[in-house]
Amino acid sequence: MVLAQRLAEQGRLTQEEYAHLIRLRTDESSMYLAGKADHIRREIYGRDVYIRGLIEISNICRNDCYYCGIRRSNTGCERYRLTKQQILGCCREGYDLGFRTFVMQGGEGSYSAGEIADIVGAVKETYPDCAVTLSLGEYTRGEYKIMRSAGADRYLLRHETADREHYRKLHPFGMSYENRMRCLYDLRELGYQVGCGFMVGSPYQTAESLAEDLKFIEEFSPDMCGIGPFIPQRDTPFWDMPAGSGEMTIFLLSVIRLIKPNILLPATTALGTVMHNGREQGIHAGANVIMPNLSPLSERKKYSLYDNKICTGEESAQSIRILKEHMRSIGYQIVTARGDIKKP
Ligand code: 5AD
Repeated sequence: MVLAQRLAEQGRLTQEEYAHLIRLRTDESSMYLAGKADHIRREIYGRDVYIRGLIEISNICRNDCYYCGIRRSNTGCERYRLTKQQILGCCREGYDLGFRTFVMQGGEGSYSAGEIADIVGAVKETYPDCAVTLSLGEYTRGEYKIMRSAGADRYLLRHETADREHYRKLHPFGMSYENRMRCLYDLRELGYQVGCGFMVGSPYQTAESLAEDLKFIEEFSPDMCGIGPFIPQRDTPFWDMPAGSGEMTIFLLSVIRLIKPNILLPATTALGTVMHNGREQGIHAGANVIMPNLSPLSERKKYSLYDNKICTGEESAQSIRILKEHMRSIGYQIVTARGDIKKP
């Protein structure tokens, strides 16, 4: 509890202390940090929870990450790629439901930078009051620039792990920690609001590597951070690895909120998948963003990054009214707004 108290007071610990805090996590320290995180978030964002309409635009991917269900080598994955018209259709539906941020997420390399720019341009022209977030993987600086010039506001690129050795155990030859970091710094310099993030309980992860992730977040100071438990997918090399813990994910949400009080922090689908009421618990512990699924129903099941991924019920953008009611009942309110980061 001494370390948890120091974190709550100072908003940072040494790398060794973070590792200790993680190793020694108890329900007591979780509850303590959740209360502190909820409090500090409330001072900046009040009771507001931001929503993002998540459009999974393609599951075609050039990469072969060992953990991911849409990896190139997975022949069991039925591939799809939405057209510009389909994507605009999702946005129309989302706009009418109250979404003012659209997140276009997809496998890497499925669209060229020019194609992405064309789609982003059309979305921004039709909905000038909305933010567009891209989550499409690694591109060159020049390509990111083209997308940014077309009007993209934000970019999510999870760093996956800040520990180089660990990075190599999760990715095949050809992908590198260095290029991942290069991307994040390029995106920042190009004026995007940038999000990083990692999986909790990914294979070969240690308390030390998580401590490195936290140090990286301190140093990089991202605008957003996406974390969720690792969940095995049956057709991947990690099919028999154990899933990450929902409790540890929630604990780390609180830690990240305390490190960076104004960060945009989603309670993710993966958290909602491993844990009953996972997203609500995440919000209670310091998260302030939810990303309901706006993808066309016909393709939704094909975007299976991991097994049993939830995509209906309250996960579905179409059920926004139920989600709103549910959030209100636990003391939060979903707002219709772009939901940009509040700068101190
Ligand atoms: N379990 C949990 N999260 C996963 N992701 C990919 N595969 C899995 C999995 N098996 C996450 C990665 C990626 C994001 C889009 O989804 O962190 O960056």
